[in-house]
Amino acid sequence: MSEMTQTMGYELYQGNSFGVLPEEFEDNSVHAIVTDPPYGVVEFETANVEKMREGTGGVWRIPPELDGNKRKPLPRFTTLTADDKDKLRNFFETFGEAVERVLRPGGHVFLATTQLLMHEVSKQLDAAGLERRDVLVRETKTLRGGDRPKGAHDHPEYQNVSSMPRVYWEPWLLYRKPFDGRLDDNLSEWQTGGLRRESDDRPFTDLLGNGKTPKEETEIVKDAHPGDEEERVAHPNLKPQKLMRELCHAALPLREGTILDPFMGSGSTVAAAHALGYDAVGIELDETFYQMAEEAIPELTKVPTEIEQRDDVTAHRTESQSLSDFS
Ligand SMILES: C[S@@+](CC[C@H](N)C(=O)[O-])C[C@H]1O[C@@H](n2cnc3c(N)ncnc32)[C@H](O)[C@@H]1O
Repeated sequence: MSEMTQTMGYELYQGNSFGVLPEEFEDNSVHAIVTDPPYGVVEFETANVEKMREGTGGVWRIPPELDGNKRKPLPRFTTLTADDKDKLRNFFETFGEAVERVLRPGGHVFLATTQLLMHEVSKQLDAAGLERRDVLVRETKTLRGGDRPKGAHDHPEYQNVSSMPRVYWEPWLLYRKPFDGRLDDNLSEWQTGGLRRESDDRPFTDLLGNGKTPKEETEIVKDAHPGDEEERVAHPNLKPQKLMRELCHAALPLREGTILDPFMGSGSTVAAAHALGYDAVGIELDETFYQMAEEAIPELTKVPTEIEQRDDVTAHRTESQSLSDFS
């Protein structure tokens, strides 16, 4: 069962994407998917979400406070068992098949992942018949990796050792649904197949600048939490509007169509698409995150970034507003 809210420009479903997609979406109906799924799958299973909310660990690590600032919880993907990895494969197998059906030929998928698991996700998307196009590098300094071995303080010779590199980038897989023939024909038939350029001088590139989520955006999402004051926390994986608008802009080569986020969390993709004047659909399983998205999207949409200041975007918004004036 899913619940749905419709607002001018976007639709939100509360439910499991693997139920909502077959029930609500026709074949070849979506122009692009921009999504930040549960990287390891287990971290968003109900029991682990409860542990995260109670601050009692599980797969979530609560990093130590720094300068009196509370850090957001981080899932530990190094602890995944063989069963967890099987679940992950099944999850992305089902996802790949669902996406391959609903996307228009030539439609792109932008999918956030992690260094440790991206190969597993990629294999499932390949098997579903999608074409791998690139891995986008989002520069972002995280607290992952770089730890000294346990008990290093008892072994001075281990002080200069870390188990893994400190992670300074986030991978985004870029896939496309195959199409027959030439790109220009596909653009005219399905309005998909290419990526929109940043400007006449500069194509969309696979290196995405440093984009930490600004405090203002985290506060919007925290305030959207339906609980009491002391329970209110932002979504642990809130993505910045600047990044999401950059991706949504690239995703619609002719600035026409619908962007889907089947794992919308607190709604950063839907807000980004809406800020650019694009139609969007978001699906979220967890009731609390869904309620946060409903409240947060209108506010996140208003956050200014440089992307919507581009001539390309302002021209599109003016055109679509004048069209709706006559409809
Ligand atoms: C990494 S978070 C997305 C966060 C989002 N990018 C944001 O900025 O808030 C992934 C989300 O997918 C949701 N989720 C997990 N499995 C799902 C499913 N089968 N259907 C719909 N949502 C799901 C989780 O509850 C979680 O909120």
